[in-house]
Amino acid sequence: MIRRAALTMLLGTFVLNAAAQETPSLAKAYEGRLKIGAAIEPSQLTSAEAPLLATHFNSIVAENVMKPTDIQPKEGAYNFAPADKLVAYAQGSGMAMRGHTLLWHLRTPEWMWTDKEGKPASRDLVLARLKSHIETVVGRYKGAVYAWDVVNEVIDEKQPNCLRKDKWFATTGDAYIEQAFRYAHAADPKARLYINDYSTDEPAKRQCLERIVKGLIARGVPVHGVGHQMHVSVFSPSVESIDESLTTFARLGLENQVTELDVSLYRYQAKSLSDTEAKLLQLQGERYAALMKVFLAHPELRAVTLWGISDSHTWLNHGEYEGRHDSPLLFDRQQKPKPAYTGMLNAAK
Ligand code: XIL
Repeated sequence: MIRRAALTMLLGTFVLNAAAQETPSLAKAYEGRLKIGAAIEPSQLTSAEAPLLATHFNSIVAENVMKPTDIQPKEGAYNFAPADKLVAYAQGSGMAMRGHTLLWHLRTPEWMWTDKEGKPASRDLVLARLKSHIETVVGRYKGAVYAWDVVNEVIDEKQPNCLRKDKWFATTGDAYIEQAFRYAHAADPKARLYINDYSTDEPAKRQCLERIVKGLIARGVPVHGVGHQMHVSVFSPSVESIDESLTTFARLGLENQVTELDVSLYRYQAKSLSDTEAKLLQLQGERYAALMKVFLAHPELRAVTLWGISDSHTWLNHGEYEGRHDSPLLFDRQQKPKPAYTGMLNAAK
């Protein structure tokens, strides 16, 4: 009996080691070139995905718990505990930590817009609240969070002034962007400060983003980089247009980061898959490899963050995407490596 147990254990160790050898660490493969990050919820630190996180990634970002609605749900009543867990994990495991995000129209708490008498908050009050939020959050994680997405999705290329017509704009004009960067810089002068957005490769969007960023630079605003969300699909956009966009911002002397990478199997807005899943997973592997090659060719780009770890947890099957069975990440629902993983690994060679 004992001998059989020992044999089983030995066999178990062998299988585990073999699995580890077949799936070398992505973080190690890219070491010295790119940080490899993942967006996570605190629950994922102890879920079935935790070993993958520890093996393949050397950077994390909060998928949700640092967003303003989550971290300051009521004015002055901060909910730091979930974010603290992530920061403690990053520090304990020697991983880098990105901060996401200090301002986003979709996650601004409602209290921001009303004053004590229940009237619409004034410009001055909103900017004072923004200052207090940023000082508190950036100040708390000073030295622990090395880069912040200061503003998220503020560009709207359909507006003549390129800025999203939201409550931030309605209340403060374009001041909120500049001030958010200034407040963040004052709270942690060493933090790298990013303007983050999606579809940054689309010409009109890119031109708008460039115009806004140039304006910030001209006014001496401490903006250090552009965050490209990179929620792409197997089919689009082209790597050439992504490359061009990265070049546009590199020429301005800015850093680039890929901040929310995932590769959907679905065509834009499609409700069903256009091919067999097996075929699409193969194409996805090629796509990850092609993307990583472009990123590696950009010396100003030093970090790529995936928006999740494995297909068992991805935003692309919820909310507006409910009903889909998307598999956009590097590992499958059983945490096994996919062609996407192999593609990413091979691109580092
Ligand atoms: C998403 C999260 O993944 C979801 O869990 C949440 O319900 C909504 O936000 N762009 C961003 C991210 O900048 O913050 C979004 O994250 C995905 C799109």
